[in-house]
Amino acid sequence: MSRICVIGTGYVGLVTGACFADLGNTVVCLDVDETRINRLKSGIMPIYEPGLEQIVDQNVRHGRLSFTTDYPEALKNAEFAFIAVGTPSGVDGEADLQYVRQAAESIADLVEWPIIVVNKSTVPVGTGDWVAEVITRRRNGRPLDFNVVSNPEFLREGSAILDFMSPDRVVLGSLHREAAEKVARLYLSLRCPIMITDLRTAEMVKYASNAFLATRISFINEIANICEELGADVREVARGMGLDKRIGPSFLDAGLGWGGSCFPKDVKALAHMAVLHGTHPQLLQAVMDINRNQRRRVVVKLRRALGTLDQKVIGVLGLSFKPNTDDIREAPALEVIHLLENEGASVRAYDPQAMQAAASVLPRVRLCETAYEVAEGADGLLLATEWNEFKQLDFGIIRQTMRTPIIMDSRNLWDGEQLRAMGFTYFSIGRGSKTNGHTQG
Ligand code: UDX
Repeated sequence: MSRICVIGTGYVGLVTGACFADLGNTVVCLDVDETRINRLKSGIMPIYEPGLEQIVDQNVRHGRLSFTTDYPEALKNAEFAFIAVGTPSGVDGEADLQYVRQAAESIADLVEWPIIVVNKSTVPVGTGDWVAEVITRRRNGRPLDFNVVSNPEFLREGSAILDFMSPDRVVLGSLHREAAEKVARLYLSLRCPIMITDLRTAEMVKYASNAFLATRISFINEIANICEELGADVREVARGMGLDKRIGPSFLDAGLGWGGSCFPKDVKALAHMAVLHGTHPQLLQAVMDINRNQRRRVVVKLRRALGTLDQKVIGVLGLSFKPNTDDIREAPALEVIHLLENEGASVRAYDPQAMQAAASVLPRVRLCETAYEVAEGADGLLLATEWNEFKQLDFGIIRQTMRTPIIMDSRNLWDGEQLRAMGFTYFSIGRGSKTNGHTQG
């Protein structure tokens, strides 16, 4: 059992703190956002993450997990201080490290015992060295026995607890192997491969992993666009590819592309690091361009089907950047809605979890209570996020209530043949232009 301080209670910090507590450690989670901490103390989660409320409640009740805004309280006797604060994108894509700096300086000001500082936030390569310098400078000659360890997270929103408790691997990097080994002991009970390397390599594993996953998605989206012209079905292509062990089946779902708080930020940051250091990230640039273009393609399909988007009513199903989360950061749906509105369309939308988040960023969108309300009177219906509850919609009702029965299935969720047989003009992604968009007969 160890005493752990986690700085930052976003989905990485809160999941990390709750899971470490669940493994038997004593964890204090700190955030500078008083409202967020007060809500956490009342058992109210700041994010929708399946299973989070239960694991937090259970460990708070067992006295292993607590929340505070007070740094001295959070750091008291801590053996490990995990920095899990946000590293938002700056103007050119570089990661903004102001919150990392604030956490590091607070540690330097308050800790007078041996401590291991663990970078959990996704930080540019070299940040581990920088954090050590920040702490040393802040100590201004006062000795402190500390080491910095990079421990990047590989949590997916919507499955973050599972990803923490059953990781494919734990990656640790440090200039001091014994410090990394002490952090490794926190993960031993998870019985997964634990890789110990140097700081910069560990930081790069994170960026390279996310950039590769984003590349896979942009790759299959490019293949989808070619399939549309050649009359092939990209879902079947992906299935055939995925049977090759070297390729594997995951992250080959063509659609509206990737969004969220990680891929866009991390791919941009990696490209920025490359440019800063004199190399040209041509593949990463193409990966981002393809991703942006996926949003435009679905708008073009709707415009072509309707002749114009001006004064048209378009229904959008799903606003979160993916199912099982309320997170709308960089959600493809938001970009599509802005493109639709720029062409004069008025948009109605519904999402099972993200309505509250969406209300503040979509002032002109009519937010509906159900998918059927979205479809009422719509000239086109666009599926943006493949929530389970959209899988079995009653299209008989939708056929009756839409003004024109045009469907843009941006995540290949529905059966095109069935919908065409019902009289819909059905568009999808990468499923052969010979069938894309034509009604039956
Ligand atoms: C990602 C990484 O998976 C995770 O390891 C890292 O720690 C954080 O970033 P996350 O952003 O939560 O996790 O979601 P993920 O499930 O990876 O999906 C990212 C985006 O890609 C979503 O917008 C999703 O819709 C899209 N996606 C995913 C596809 O378009 N096609 C796919 O096949 C898979």
